[in-house]
Amino acid sequence: MKLSLPLLLTLGGAAACTNILVTPGASSDHTSQLAYNADSASLYGSLYHYPPTSSSSSTKRDVYDWDSGEYLGHIPESSTTTYNVVGNCNEVGLCIGETTFGGLEDLCEAYPGSIVDYGSLIWITLQRSATAREAIATMDHLMQTYGYASEGESFSIADADEVWINEVIGKGKHELGSVWAAVRIPDGAVSSHANQARITTFDWESPDVMYSADVLSFAKKIGLLDGAVGNRDFSFSDTYDPVTFEGARFCEGRVWSFFSSVMGDDFQTKYVDYATGKNLTNRMPLFVTPPQKISLLDTFSHMRNHFEGSELAFDEDVGSGAFNLPYRWRPLTWSYGDKNYVNERAIGTQQTGWNFVANIRGSLPKPLQAVIWFGADDSATTVRVPIYAAARELPQSFAGRGPQDGVVPPMMKFDVDSAFYVTNLVSNWAYSRWADIYPVVLEKIMVFEQTYLNQLLETDAKIMKLIGVGEKEEAFQVINDFGVKLGDSFTKSWFSFFGELFVRFRDGYDITTNTADPECGCSVGGNGFNHETYARIAEETGDQYLEPSNDGLAGKRWETKSKLKLKSMF
Ligand SMILES: *[C@@H]1O[C@H](CO)[C@@H](O)[C@H](O)[C@H]1NC(C)=O
Repeated sequence: MKLSLPLLLTLGGAAACTNILVTPGASSDHTSQLAYNADSASLYGSLYHYPPTSSSSSTKRDVYDWDSGEYLGHIPESSTTTYNVVGNCNEVGLCIGETTFGGLEDLCEAYPGSIVDYGSLIWITLQRSATAREAIATMDHLMQTYGYASEGESFSIADADEVWINEVIGKGKHELGSVWAAVRIPDGAVSSHANQARITTFDWESPDVMYSADVLSFAKKIGLLDGAVGNRDFSFSDTYDPVTFEGARFCEGRVWSFFSSVMGDDFQTKYVDYATGKNLTNRMPLFVTPPQKISLLDTFSHMRNHFEGSELAFDEDVGSGAFNLPYRWRPLTWSYGDKNYVNERAIGTQQTGWNFVANIRGSLPKPLQAVIWFGADDSATTVRVPIYAAARELPQSFAGRGPQDGVVPPMMKFDVDSAFYVTNLVSNWAYSRWADIYPVVLEKIMVFEQTYLNQLLETDAKIMKLIGVGEKEEAFQVINDFGVKLGDSFTKSWFSFFGELFVRFRDGYDITTNTADPECGCSVGGNGFNHETYARIAEETGDQYLEPSNDGLAGKRWETKSKLKLKSMF
């Protein structure tokens, strides 16, 4: 039993997400990358900020459940100053993401009194840890001391040198705390996870593997495994989150699409039976080593994937409509007659609340290392804006608090000063005529992201210069100003871009500027539906719309009949 399926079906609730992890040795500029889409229809797109706690003087840290906003209790505040946290990164170059796998139902219900849910686990750990290994130890301490209050999770944990996956599941009604296994992704490799536990067997002796001492014995104790199972045969995923059809098709399919993109056709073919859910034993490796290095902009593009061109592509059948839309409105499953069907679940998806690609640059001083390239809404349709994780001030149009802070976000308030609603304007407009509008949006996204990358590199250099001459305060001001200015100017620009798109694609047309035309200063064009849609209409309606003469001249005759510009009037 997997909880992520009902969660995916009910639209709200726990986030169903996608993570991509790139080790420094696999990247084109020797940096770590951690990409994360936080997918839930009830998640508002805000960038969170946790300033260092020395500025407050509270002795306790309240904990609210990230998904429900429920108050879970409080734990002692750190006795030392905590790190500044922006989004899912901190000021010393540590970033953490996650996807929920749920896992065995028996273990999903939290032990009574458990305080730390998976969201709070991320943010408290970022406040208290400097490296990936330290983060894994901090998480363990928090879960075993205060209890783990969520379902099974795969956490992505990255610093400038190391990238890890830590898979965690609670102990249900049996005990306080959790069991977990963490594997470092070898340098040069990439990994990914998406709502299905992926760590199977592992090397218990390796210095690049960590686990809770009872990860195997607990499974035996509650009768999941036979007492004879040895370390070498123990598989975390097969024990705590066995793959089902849904786990393969809805979840591993997304990993397969990323791995196939970087590994090529042989990989795609080898695992297509698994990704489609037809052969659950043909599991993919935890990580792969791509033949080509991956740039930050490549990862942005992998996060825009909808299975295009693969066996799971869904942008050409009748469900994609007249404009090849690679989206299907929820629910995720449907039935017809006595048969049940699924929609595909792609990386780029409508219900993403916020998304980011974190980039951790080991060659720079700590405060400059982690940059969170943050976007509100769907990762396929939004620009990611770079913000230094050391920033003490955030752009207003992005900044906000969430249920994990005990705050209800402004979901029900439309606001053109909110990055979330502005990006939703553009994405939802693009969904309405994907084949016409999305290419224009994508071109714009790529121009923005390249420009932002150039500006970031220039700003790095400027800050390094200030640090070099001892102007530390000035340097921090630049760190703050960079994100604030970029973020808020993005929101304004993107709203005006929405206006341009709206003018151009209004009413099914493609209306462009033509100063030679005195009537509107415009030219009106448009291509109607795609060919396949006309074919389907013709097949379905027989001669209902057939021209009796069938000479293809009805449009011409009608236009020349009158002096009026019938084309645009009709
Ligand atoms: C499923 O995949 C496994 C592993 O590749 C393979 O040995 C097996 O033959 C496959 N089963 C089917 C029915 O194709």
